[in-house]
Amino acid sequence: MSKLLTQLHELATQLTISPEQIGAIAVKFQQAMKNGLLGSPSSLKMLPSYVSKPSRKEIGTFLALDFGGTNVRVLLTELLGEGKYVVHARAGKPLKQKEGQYNHISKQATADHLFDFIAKQIAPLVKPDQIYPLGHTFSFPTDQRGLNTGTLIHWTKEIETTGVEGKDITTLLRSALDRQNLPNVIPKAIINDTVGTLLASAYEDPFTDIGSICGTGHNTAYIEPCAPDTKMPMIINLESGNFDQLPFTAYDALLDQQSEKPGEQRLEKMVSGHYIGELVRIIACSLFDDGLLAGSTSTRKILTTPYILHGAHISLLLEDDSEKKEQIAHFLESKLSIADSTLEDRQTLIKIASLVSIRSARLVAATYIGILTHIDPDCSQNHTIAIDGSLYEKAPNYAKTIQMTLDEELGSKKKVTSTLTKDGSGIGAAIATAIAIHTES
Ligand code: BGC
Repeated sequence: MSKLLTQLHELATQLTISPEQIGAIAVKFQQAMKNGLLGSPSSLKMLPSYVSKPSRKEIGTFLALDFGGTNVRVLLTELLGEGKYVVHARAGKPLKQKEGQYNHISKQATADHLFDFIAKQIAPLVKPDQIYPLGHTFSFPTDQRGLNTGTLIHWTKEIETTGVEGKDITTLLRSALDRQNLPNVIPKAIINDTVGTLLASAYEDPFTDIGSICGTGHNTAYIEPCAPDTKMPMIINLESGNFDQLPFTAYDALLDQQSEKPGEQRLEKMVSGHYIGELVRIIACSLFDDGLLAGSTSTRKILTTPYILHGAHISLLLEDDSEKKEQIAHFLESKLSIADSTLEDRQTLIKIASLVSIRSARLVAATYIGILTHIDPDCSQNHTIAIDGSLYEKAPNYAKTIQMTLDEELGSKKKVTSTLTKDGSGIGAAIATAIAIHTES
């Protein structure tokens, strides 16, 4: 066997998650959930959301603000009941401009810059003589004491804006709305995007009890039948991206050490779109160092630039089914200035991307099995797992691998279905607002 093949074989051994490992991870995950719920030490924060399943009768027109770390999006949404809704208007912008004109998520940005920018995106959808109840999807670990208050515990996804960690997000938003002269926009609810995805899916499909994001970041929420605070059913945001009882490789350790917050978000660093491109780069770099990838200096330079590969590039690598892998050659040349890649190099990159992507989907599925075992040990009920995010939606075979892993572990007769819920975070915020208003009255 050639040295390259031996290395790839070794890589496959390290990155393949066996059925036994799936079972073992699920058990550890379930235990971490229990510990988190009891307030014992756990890598799972198990954050209460103060909202439960929708009645599916929620109706009305609401502003939904979606802040996930890449863009700010605002929807003016009318809920019509039983899963139906109309989006009347949309607005939004990226939080950072590629040309470098502005960046609201860097160390130099302050909370006021960021929240003024957010409020400015809301303004075009608002008429001065009307009242607009608003739901805010804020996709970060937030300590909530009620449906409309939430303190950011810490940033994830490498966001660095100062003065937001430890602050109440609704207060920051309220002040920015006032500065932008929008007193008629009234924040009513703040939710995580996983909670929004669960709500949006459950509005249509009452079997939904898990909501998850497989995109730039990763996380899951589920309906806890007996929440610690209220002893009532409540959606709990697991912040599962922080789960850390996992089979780490040396590549995972390196990525973690070089990240903004070493030791945190260990599962997210193995599975999410923000990190899997970087993992592929780190692995490719080690093959290059062993002389196993074409040895041009341009390759060297590109391979040493951190985060040059994104989740979307993984999809691109996995999509090219041409014999000569021309699309990949074009990508390497036009975007990374690597003009002299060989077919073998391109096939090697595909192999690495495939191993990393399959591992991501299987690890995520293992955590879902942990949750299902917690809520329904015999798995006797129907369950829908609602999932949103670019990886789940776009990465070739990603969604299929999740479902296959669930079937492999639970048996395909069990009625557990994973399904795409698009724009769940926006619609979910509107549903949470309707629930908040109904609870007030
Ligand atoms: C955040 C979660 C969020 C997930 C998906 C993670 O980095 O910590 O709160 O749900 O990304 O956006």
